[in-house]
Amino acid sequence: MNPEFWQKRWQEGRIGFNQSMVNPLLIKYFNRLNLTAGSRIFVPLCGKSIDMVWLATQGYDVVGVELVETAVQAFFTEQNIEPTVHQQADNPMMKYYQGQLSGQTITLWVADIFALTFEDIGSIDAVYDKAALIALPDDMRVRYSEQVRKLSSDTSKVNGANNEITPQLLLTLNYDQRKKNGPPFSINGEQLEQYYSAHYQISELASVPSSIGSAPDITVTEQVWLLSNK
Ligand SMILES: C[S@@+](CC[C@H](N)C(=O)[O-])C[C@H]1O[C@@H](n2cnc3c(N)ncnc32)[C@H](O)[C@@H]1O
Repeated sequence: MNPEFWQKRWQEGRIGFNQSMVNPLLIKYFNRLNLTAGSRIFVPLCGKSIDMVWLATQGYDVVGVELVETAVQAFFTEQNIEPTVHQQADNPMMKYYQGQLSGQTITLWVADIFALTFEDIGSIDAVYDKAALIALPDDMRVRYSEQVRKLSSDTSKVNGANNEITPQLLLTLNYDQRKKNGPPFSINGEQLEQYYSAHYQISELASVPSSIGSAPDITVTEQVWLLSNK
């Protein structure tokens, strides 16, 4: 899945992943992250997800990263927010848009997630992964999971072996991959272990029937995972 693939999807408006309603599983399970008011949430591969609006209205700052600039621009336009645009000094390929919503700051990087550093995005308190891990093919997922862990681990806070781990709320889809090509890709518990178990404790919070718009006949289960300190 190269950048052109996603640029083209946004250009042609093939963005079935973009939901008009806040994800009910986010609303139901977000408190399992046990965050304090004002915490900063990282949303990798964020698109223009309305879930970021919900996070801000709940009193959280949001920092997202998205490859496609028009998606970031559309987010702010649709939310009637006038963002400021900040060019990253030492990399002309990277910039971020920043605006205020419900008194919270929303910062959306226009960048390849693999080019970002912890210093770029700053310290965060939790990760919300919706349609990010499952957007990537198998051969990119180990690298992605490592990158998310690095971006969200403030090593200056380390007091013990794993204290730097930032919790994640992660949504995945599970279906027979032989019946459809991704994205979204199917990910089961064993695969998740492969990506995250070295650093996180993985707990399944829910498993509910779901569907994929482009393949309505396939049986799909959506799973909600909490990734936390071991
Ligand atoms: C399946 S969509 C999900 C978007 C959003 N999370 C949502 O649920 O609406 C995946 C998004 O990731 C973006 N993307 C893909 N690869 C990326 C990368 N390497 N770095 C940053 N964004 C990326 C795509 O442009 C696309 O908007």
